[in-house]
Amino acid sequence: MHRRKKMHLYLLSLFFTMQICTPQAAVGVPENATISAVFVFGDSIVDTGNNNNLITLVKSNFPPYGRDFMGGKPTGRFSNGRIPSDIFAQQLGIKELLPAFLDPNLQLQDLIGGVSFASAGAGFDPLTSELVFVMPMLKHLRLFDEYKTKLKSFIGEERADSTVANGLYIVSAGSDDIANTYFHTSTWIFQYNASSYTELLVRSASSFLQVLQIQYK
Ligand SMILES: *[C@@H]1O[C@H](CO)[C@@H](O)[C@H](O)[C@H]1NC(C)=O
Ligand SMILES: *[C@@H]1O[C@H](CO)[C@@H](O)[C@H](O)[C@H]1NC(C)=O
Repeated sequence: MHRRKKMHLYLLSLFFTMQICTPQAAVGVPENATISAVFVFGDSIVDTGNNNNLITLVKSNFPPYGRDFMGGKPTGRFSNGRIPSDIFAQQLGIKELLPAFLDPNLQLQDLIGGVSFASAGAGFDPLTSELVFVMPMLKHLRLFDEYKTKLKSFIGEERADSTVANGLYIVSAGSDDIANTYFHTSTWIFQYNASSYTELLVRSASSFLQVLQIQYK
């Protein structure tokens, strides 16, 4: 049986995210690994503009966001400049900026090298995304499927499979679950305490990764 490469998967902790944002930091990859694309799932830390056309308040496509970005362009990145998704893609020599999959101006060639499926405000707990009308994490996975179909029709099955198999997968979520859902949901609909909610998040994160692992084959 053909042995697949081990999936490159990085779960970002906030600490790690902050580290790679410092100008001196570099992204380290396993020795001899060839990374062909970056695929990102999660929340505002890694959303490069997927929320722009959603009906939600969780948006950043207006000033002062993006004031240090390509001549002061707000793009839907929750930042004055680039965000970790872009930094990963750039540090790996793939591309300067990682496009948002839902960008209406996305061209077929932009699919090469990967995209971000993240949605600011999303969390592992489906309620987190629901409360602010953004895309739940399972929707990010459905978009990833859509991405694969589009990529195949563009560059052919074999090259598309290789791109997906040699991709770097980054999942960054959980802070909105804690900051928004856990601390701000009314107690009469929220039946969790800290330890049971943590368990729910771990279970959801784990099943997310399991589905992702099935999809990436
Ligand atoms: C990386 O490639 C070099 C040269 O082919 C080889 O000597 C080395 O053992 C490889 N390292 C790993 C971890 O596979
Ligand atoms: C948290 O909730 C669980 C299940 O409802 C319960 O078994 C546990 O004792 C609670 N823990 C604390 C610290 O209150």
